[in-house]
Amino acid sequence: MKGIRVTSVAIKDQVEVAVRAALTQVLPAELADADPVVRRSDHADFQANGALAVAKDVGRSPRSIAQDLIVGLPRYGAEVSGPGFVNLTVADDVVWRAVACRATDDRLGVSSPRSGERVVVDYSAPNVAKQMHVGHLRSSVIGDALVRVFDHLGSDVTRQNHIGDWGTQFGMLIRYLDEHPEVDWQGQGVETMSALDSLYKVARTEFEADAAFADRSRARVIALQAGDDRTVATWRDLVAESEKAFEAVYARLGILLDDGDFDGESRYNRSLPGVVDELLAAGIASESDGAVVAFTDDVNGPDGAPTPLIIRKKDGGYGYAATDLATIRLRVDEYRADRILYVVDTRQALHFRMVFNVARRAGWLPVKVHAEHVQFGTVLGTDGRPFKTRAGKTVRLADLLDDAETAVRGILQEREHGFTQSEVDSVVRAAGVAAVKYADLNNTRTKDYVFDVDQMVATTGNTGVYLQYAHARVCSILRRATGDSAVAGSDAEIRVDETLPLHPAERALGLILDGFEQALRDVTDTLEPHRLCGYLYDLATAFTRFYDACPVVKAEGATRSNRLALCALTERTLAVGLDLLGIPAPERM
Ligand code: ARG
Repeated sequence: MKGIRVTSVAIKDQVEVAVRAALTQVLPAELADADPVVRRSDHADFQANGALAVAKDVGRSPRSIAQDLIVGLPRYGAEVSGPGFVNLTVADDVVWRAVACRATDDRLGVSSPRSGERVVVDYSAPNVAKQMHVGHLRSSVIGDALVRVFDHLGSDVTRQNHIGDWGTQFGMLIRYLDEHPEVDWQGQGVETMSALDSLYKVARTEFEADAAFADRSRARVIALQAGDDRTVATWRDLVAESEKAFEAVYARLGILLDDGDFDGESRYNRSLPGVVDELLAAGIASESDGAVVAFTDDVNGPDGAPTPLIIRKKDGGYGYAATDLATIRLRVDEYRADRILYVVDTRQALHFRMVFNVARRAGWLPVKVHAEHVQFGTVLGTDGRPFKTRAGKTVRLADLLDDAETAVRGILQEREHGFTQSEVDSVVRAAGVAAVKYADLNNTRTKDYVFDVDQMVATTGNTGVYLQYAHARVCSILRRATGDSAVAGSDAEIRVDETLPLHPAERALGLILDGFEQALRDVTDTLEPHRLCGYLYDLATAFTRFYDACPVVKAEGATRSNRLALCALTERTLAVGLDLLGIPAPERM
């Protein structure tokens, strides 16, 4: 169980408190709670820009406010710069104390600012009897990182895997299986999805070619909806086999989703007529040409005419809109969500805008509950077009992982590593996962990104594999220094002498380590996991600079133990940070 830490140990927070106090001395009482605007800075450790923000209200120049302000900050080597910035440098012992505090804390000094909040995350959502493809990869990987970071910062998170397990296609699949008992599709482990996918294709071909078969299929849809035992039993088997196959992919990729998280479309069946009736009664939806539709004020088509959200189709069937409206009701009423995140690709932006709008007007989504479409771009091939196999088919997720693993294996073969075969296999698995996931996470979420295997397995530059190497390198330094072949980074040995002067490279590393919680907060504030990627990359780079400038293994006395504390804290911050991205951090690579 994760511990809970209420207060922050961040140096930045201490600086903020000090500047706030100094500002109150300088400003009139009515501006007492002005924001001190403290940021990390390239010119000093921190910069406070609060004087510029309040100058107009006080009717003084920002520079003269800043001059007064620094008088109240004797411990921060405060200096005025430019039009009224205040540059702040923290004392050496403050940095050492923060390092000591974090290095000996279970949670590395990270507090739980989001405790008390309930978040529902809808992600992955593959379709029964179909292969998972790169779009599902993005949803799974991004959603999982968000789940992990929210959970780490104290939110109560509910994962929901809204699989496509309902619809008219099941009539066709079930009928086909009835008429072709020779089709072998159950219990084939990793090949199940391929078998189901082929079944889907042959059934679809027959459906299109043979009108009589199509009619028999439609009859099975009706039988399924009516709850006919035999039809429902086959449907259940199809869903169960698919779920097993999805779980195998999640296990391989290190995605947290498991069998308790399935929340398929079928779960909402029974509430769909109610959704329609309530919307009609409230005058939010109306009948149009046999269908039931709702309009929203702000969503217009290319011709300027309002775009309808189709709640019930002409043929009486329900689309995603009705189901998604039903998910909102359940998530608000039963899960008591404060925040609902839908990790679905950008093309669904209009859909979710309309769904949230209708749900608000219907009173199903109260103002205090935030519903957000966490959208992401398309995965492109190296040719800049949507990623397809050479035959033009959608790429299977399992094949992507295979490709990444092959590339990693190739790189490993060219190195002297002294690993046994099983060690090689486990390194390859870990690096394959890191390559694929990090390449996805390390992008501005809403942009398209190019799936480039060679780039993603690179051991230098901002890649997941590089970060794993950086972590393993710190582990190896710790092993050499402590003569310990077992687990690196055990905190039993941590001793920090806070009176030692700080080397600039130690300062830079110490301050980056201090920003871990801020990086995690940035992820939950922006829903952009790449903020954490950028942080970990900066950390790995700062560590390299530190290690180049400051000997560790050969250092002596307090210098040595202080530096070992920095190494141990770096090791754990990298490992926890990678874990929050869903990426393993092996001790040897
Ligand atoms: N199953 C759909 C697909 O594969 C995605 C569903 C997205 N999630 C949602 N709540 N609508 O395209």
